[in-house]
Amino acid sequence: MKKDTEITRKVEALIADMSIKEKIGQLCFVNGERDPELPFIESVMPGTVANLSGAALSNEIQKRVVAASPHNIPALMVSDVIQGYRTIFPIPLAEACSFDPALAENNSRIAATEANLSGVSWTMAPMVDIARDPRWGRIAEGAGEDTYLCGVMGAARTRGINSAGGIGGCVKHYCAYGNAEGGRDYNAAQINENELRNVYLPPFKACVEAGIDGVMPSFNTTLGVPMTCNKYLLSGVLRGEFGFEGCIATDYNAMDELINHGVAEDRYHACRLAFDSTVDVDMGSLIYMNDLQRMLDEGLITEDDIDEGVRRVLYFKFKLGLFDRYLYDTEKESALTLCPEYRAAAKDAARKSTVLLKNESNTLPLSENQKILLTGPLGDDGDAPLGWWRCKGRAEDTTTLFAGMKQLSDKVEFIKGCDVLGDGEIDFDAVKAAAKASDIIVCAVGEPSFMSGESHSRGEITLPGRQREYVKFLSTLNKPLVLVLISGRTHDISEENALSDAVLCPWEFGISGDGVAEVLFGKYNPSAKLCVSFPNNVGQIPLYYSHTNTGRPYKGAKIEMSKSVKSFATDFTSYYIDMPVTPLYPFGHGLSYTSFEYSSLSTDKAEYSTDESVTVAFTLKNTGEREGCETAQVYVRDIAASVARPVKELKGFEKVTLAPGEEKRVTLTLSKDAFSFYNFRNEYVLEPGKFEITVGGDSVSGDSVMIEFTE
Ligand code: BGC
Repeated sequence: MKKDTEITRKVEALIADMSIKEKIGQLCFVNGERDPELPFIESVMPGTVANLSGAALSNEIQKRVVAASPHNIPALMVSDVIQGYRTIFPIPLAEACSFDPALAENNSRIAATEANLSGVSWTMAPMVDIARDPRWGRIAEGAGEDTYLCGVMGAARTRGINSAGGIGGCVKHYCAYGNAEGGRDYNAAQINENELRNVYLPPFKACVEAGIDGVMPSFNTTLGVPMTCNKYLLSGVLRGEFGFEGCIATDYNAMDELINHGVAEDRYHACRLAFDSTVDVDMGSLIYMNDLQRMLDEGLITEDDIDEGVRRVLYFKFKLGLFDRYLYDTEKESALTLCPEYRAAAKDAARKSTVLLKNESNTLPLSENQKILLTGPLGDDGDAPLGWWRCKGRAEDTTTLFAGMKQLSDKVEFIKGCDVLGDGEIDFDAVKAAAKASDIIVCAVGEPSFMSGESHSRGEITLPGRQREYVKFLSTLNKPLVLVLISGRTHDISEENALSDAVLCPWEFGISGDGVAEVLFGKYNPSAKLCVSFPNNVGQIPLYYSHTNTGRPYKGAKIEMSKSVKSFATDFTSYYIDMPVTPLYPFGHGLSYTSFEYSSLSTDKAEYSTDESVTVAFTLKNTGEREGCETAQVYVRDIAASVARPVKELKGFEKVTLAPGEEKRVTLTLSKDAFSFYNFRNEYVLEPGKFEITVGGDSVSGDSVMIEFTE
């Protein structure tokens, strides 16, 4: 990003006049949730204050901060605005299933605008951690398993935040946080640098290129060093290679945690390590507050070194216009919060993020003439759909699934049936009677919002409580059964899936159960695709489509568990003898109420030089009875490379809306990045040779064409 010379001039003039105490204050971040009285405002003059928003409260704090600061420097007011501020959108995992960056950008703009109206000037978003393990509860916060999609969505969210004005973002968690060993939060990422560069880093680079203002190092250890003091990845790769010039802010208390990680002997040591790694802002550990001066006194650093971080913080504040506007209008705040425009966007997002996984015999859409029994613990729950990072969201703002369905039909009856957790009573007779009087059963199951999110990893990923037993019971009632899965992660629902006629996955959909109801009733034809593979069993994890091959790939051998141990592994290929190796539903899968046909795949040429881009063309036809939108996906496979490359990788997609019977020739251009990767020397290269391009409606089907890059 090109620096604004006028801002730079202002920053330098200010720095030249600031005391060292003031400067250190700018690098400190205090948490209003922990110390609501903010005792440090006057003594430390912190540059950042977190978790105290609402225009009136924020104004009160800013006045104190500005009065305490000899140069009247306002604070960056921080909040984690991950899926909306008061208007709660579908969780990012759901939003990514829309494969619609414009939608994500708009949602982020609204979320950031709403937050900024309440005084927030720095949101700790977007989260772009690749997640291939649904045991990890933070899978909810990102865009799923795929590098390309995470990058596209991260960049869109960055642009959305920046376009709100007066507020900036902080991409997190840099890096490989989602690779937590065993799916347990905060755990080390045991990966090599090649995988790190090819899989986990590109979304961060995409956000830097989109103009993100902050980066948050993750809690975990990557390449053997905790990220808060990973000089190689922070100062070397992020700042050096990616050219990131903004603020690096630690995760909460992470500087102190360097002691637990076993790399710092004490807090002072942690201070030295983090500072040396170009960490600007110390979130919450209060180490910079107490120890940076000592580093100066002992001659370990100079005031110029401290100026580096201060310069970045002040540049950010000037760029946001914070010096001119740090007080917010309470009337505007109440007029716009949850306004009809924002609610409509949340509803549209819920419709476009809901994935139709299964639809045997066209069980869905529901019809207004059908008598519907809605049952299950989450059918009329306003809290679960809000997810973990609901900021100021409230359950009473939610249109529950039941409320949404009632808007479209007066023939819906609701019986909760069973609890989401625990082993509470189930009145089987009452449900049986209600089912008898109905034409179809819709059952809303899943997890309460607090079961996913930070520090909420699970070892099991089946439905909790008695929900499995309940679904089994419903499947015996001789009525078509529709499963609606409301959750922040993928689950092992293989049994429930087999027992259901249709399965709909709206995830934690935010405030708009009416949006999900529109999908159920076909007022909106589902268009979302999975941004993450649905496993068959927890034992398959990590499970993702873009894996590398083995020398003995699975060829589809039939697994027959026999009593003889010797007969288990029949063909010596890579599979499990007791469960499938394939997912229940693959990445990219998602049904519509219409059908699509792909044909006539071609490229503009067969041979390319390594500086040329490739144009892919194909015909897409709506072969069904109603209008629908298909996400056509383009995958690339490098046939022979110097390092083993994934069996396929998403490199482009296009959403195409077609009327019944309509067909369209779709063209998409793949730049050389689509064929490039980091080799084992960590050089970014496009190696000449053959590449297979596959186009289809998910990651397992489609037609392919070969091209070749020559020297
Ligand atoms: C989370 C971050 C978050 C921070 C501040 C941490 O525990 O890991 O994602 O931004 O808290 O709330």
